[in-house]
Amino acid sequence: MILVTGGTGTVGKPLVENLSKRGLQVRVLTRNPKRANDIAGDLTTGNGLATALVGVTTIVHCASDTKRFGKTDVEQARNLLTAAKSAGVDHFIYISIVGIEKIPMPYYRIKLEVEKLVEDSGIPFTILRATQFHDLVGTMLLEPQRKLPFVIAPGAQIQPIEVTEVADRLAELAVQAPQGRVADIGGPTVTTLKDMAKTYVEIQGKKKPVLGLRVPGKLGKALRAGGLTCPEQAVGTGTFAEWARARN
Ligand SMILES: NC(=O)c1ccc[n+]([C@@H]2O[C@H](COP(=O)([O-])OP(=O)(O)OC[C@H]3O[C@@H](n4cnc5c(N)ncnc54)[C@H](OP(=O)(O)O)[C@@H]3O)[C@@H](O)[C@H]2O)c1
Repeated sequence: MILVTGGTGTVGKPLVENLSKRGLQVRVLTRNPKRANDIAGDLTTGNGLATALVGVTTIVHCASDTKRFGKTDVEQARNLLTAAKSAGVDHFIYISIVGIEKIPMPYYRIKLEVEKLVEDSGIPFTILRATQFHDLVGTMLLEPQRKLPFVIAPGAQIQPIEVTEVADRLAELAVQAPQGRVADIGGPTVTTLKDMAKTYVEIQGKKKPVLGLRVPGKLGKALRAGGLTCPEQAVGTGTFAEWARARN
């Protein structure tokens, strides 16, 4: 039995579908259970975790307090790892982000802290770092600006990936033995947020200017230098243009 935390989220949903298609038994931990394989639990309070983990051999931890930039992520990971240890779980898989040690952002410091908790937990683990999903760039940066007469794009190199490809890699790891930190996974090309914005505007059939925004300080420098990318691991095939066309 595989427990997926965050199985209702952007990467968790396709992961659950993928695991089910492989004929594996999957349980989804969620605060709002709705479907047959959902089980109620809250990682921040720890409520429901012991029950959710009965019979579980592998956890894929995809939950994150993303709406509050990871505010409770460390607490969530601590609660889950403690419960997993008591339940005798023998493989803990964590989805992390490429370049978190290079980009000085609070959410990334939290991700590093969670990685360390996983590594020090004593539970055999696998950590996979992925680049940004097309959805994140599309829904957080570009779609909110849809009605503006221009698009603002912060200066950053980026290598976005199709989320179903990340889900597929996680599913593959879930049926293998624990491997520690595995090779990063990135999308097919390194581009810039500005070029992505231009592609998005073009696909929408609009003619509006894309304005670059220079991000100041160490953060800006790290983003421009490609800290978020892993060009040597460009294993994804789905492009941002395909994603944008499908949503237009
Ligand atoms: N988005 C990206 O571009 C990207 C790239 C690389 C790695 N990642 C990593 O991938 C992971 C998933 O990201 P995502 O974008 O798929 O997240 P998301 O769509 O925002 O989903 C967050 C999930 O976390 C669950 N959750 C939050 N708080 C919880 C709590 N207290 N108890 C139980 N479940 C809780 C939610 O479940 P319920 O609401 O159903 O309870 C939801 O399924 C994160 O660790 C993120 O850092 C993301």
